[in-house]
Amino acid sequence: APAQARPPRGLQYETVAPNLDDAIRVPVDYASNVVIRWGDPMFPDAPEFDFENQTAAAQARQFGYNNDFCGILPIDGPGRRYVMFSNHEYTLEPLMFRGYDEDAPTPEQIRIGMAAHGGGVVEVTRDLRSGELRYDRDGKLNRRITADTEMVLDGPAAGAEVLRTKADPTGRSVKGMIGNCAGGTTPWGTFLSGEENFDGYFASGPATDERAKRYGISEGSSERRWETVDPRWDLAQEPNEANRFGYIVEIDPHDPRSKPVKHTALGRFKHEGATVALTRDGRPVVYMGDDERFDYVYKFVSDKRMRRGHSRAAREHNATLLSSGTLYVATFTGDSPAAEITGTGALPRDGRFDGSGQWKPLASTTKSYVDGMSVADVFVFTRLAADKVGATKMDRPEDVEPNPRTGKVYIACTNNSDRGKAGAKAGPDEANPRNANQHGHVIELTETRDDPAATTFAWNILLVCGNPDDPSTYFGGFDKSQVSPITSPDNVAFDPYGNLWVSTDSTQALEINDGLYGVVLEGPQRGSTRLFASVPVGSECCGPVVTENFVLVSVQHPGDVDDASPEKPASHWPDGGAAQPRPAVAAIRHLKDGRPAKIGV
Ligand code: FEO
Ligand code: CA
Ligand code: CA
Ligand code: CA
Repeated sequence: APAQARPPRGLQYETVAPNLDDAIRVPVDYASNVVIRWGDPMFPDAPEFDFENQTAAAQARQFGYNNDFCGILPIDGPGRRYVMFSNHEYTLEPLMFRGYDEDAPTPEQIRIGMAAHGGGVVEVTRDLRSGELRYDRDGKLNRRITADTEMVLDGPAAGAEVLRTKADPTGRSVKGMIGNCAGGTTPWGTFLSGEENFDGYFASGPATDERAKRYGISEGSSERRWETVDPRWDLAQEPNEANRFGYIVEIDPHDPRSKPVKHTALGRFKHEGATVALTRDGRPVVYMGDDERFDYVYKFVSDKRMRRGHSRAAREHNATLLSSGTLYVATFTGDSPAAEITGTGALPRDGRFDGSGQWKPLASTTKSYVDGMSVADVFVFTRLAADKVGATKMDRPEDVEPNPRTGKVYIACTNNSDRGKAGAKAGPDEANPRNANQHGHVIELTETRDDPAATTFAWNILLVCGNPDDPSTYFGGFDKSQVSPITSPDNVAFDPYGNLWVSTDSTQALEINDGLYGVVLEGPQRGSTRLFASVPVGSECCGPVVTENFVLVSVQHPGDVDDASPEKPASHWPDGGAAQPRPAVAAIRHLKDGRPAKIGV
């Protein structure tokens, strides 16, 4: 066989072999270490983790469960000290507690669960000699955010009737964030965090309310029974409480006392993440996915310009950037005849799944573009507004993220087992070309004139994922014998050279552990997927951060396989031995002659 061409700068590592190991696997000459784990004390006076004797008070001072998104901002210039933010998306009580009874959790178990949700801000130090990253228990910026933390509701829907409750007659103040999945790091130095699967936390959903149903809110008890300790989770008692969840939350990590802000201007849906590009005149554009089968891709265009610098005036101004602007939803139109899109993944005659698209406005701060819906309706019941304008039904859009080097936007459509099924909401289309799409695909979107605020775009599919032996897959046209198998793309990141990185959440759909892949975008190897790291048994790989000197991966729900329990753990990562599995953030570094070296070069 001909020698393989050298991958581009940033992706020059020996790919990891797909595996089912209970470990993080990294390339030759790379190493990993745990930055922070579930239960690690985040304050000098916080208790040490004790799996057998957990309390809600301790959990509220310790790193939470199921870290998903991970973002960093440098504190002391590049290289040594960072502030890191992690989402704590959800809890897995059957793995957290011995003998957990899902029909009758104890009040303390429920309160521990509430305290394990939300997010965490910690200071992280990089040891310049070893290259390891560790969190600092004494960091002045350290902070826990839970399901009870006071937050602000702002933007066009703030104060609306549908956001008011007994505890908050103003409709402008809410406790807690839940289901926070992915997120983003803004150019003005804050973190964004997406409330995703909030529906399952509410009891007594109304039987006949189409708006509640469109968000999946159901009758009966909630999954975790939070309503038994706090009636605000019971919609029979607080009918509007669920309308106060499902937003993008902005967190200022530089002020641990600041109130996180839920931005209604970015719409309400099952937000995966939120990532920012700037227009040439400095206005933020935020790209977002609604992770549900047959849901939509959105963007928000601010009507204000970012101010540079970190003066108090600049920070106060930038805190309002996501409070007013216009929210759009995407339609994708293929350029090949519909008859050539067969649902098998077979390419149409022009050889590409590609076409054009439109961003359709839903509402701005002062104007609704949707018949029969007010401005507040659009921002609170965004899914129904997008239904009305005929948005394109996608295969679970997760991360939607612009490449800072090129401005091209990458959309991870993770999978959609229902595409094309009898009675399903949609069959195949050129942007979602595979029926029963088990392994997902990645779309590349180019805004007209490379303007993030444009209302039209071009698009093509970069990857149709799966095992390269599977004829329905496509790797940018690259030689499939040279790629790593990949399934269920979830999170997206970019390295400093502009390469794409994709992490996966597959429930072992290819009978391999999830991982993080470098993906070539430019040149003859475009579409080459290169497995860089795999994560332990039962876990998904989230929150990648790829820098010149290290990579962070968020290892979510290690040991989460059928029938696992504390009596029968399926993983012992990261502590080893007989230990219970603990979700954690891990750092990966490159070593040459024992000294830290650049990633991928
Ligand atoms: Fe929480 Fe869309 O993954
Ligand atoms: Ca085409
Ligand atoms: Ca996700
Ligand atoms: Ca996920």
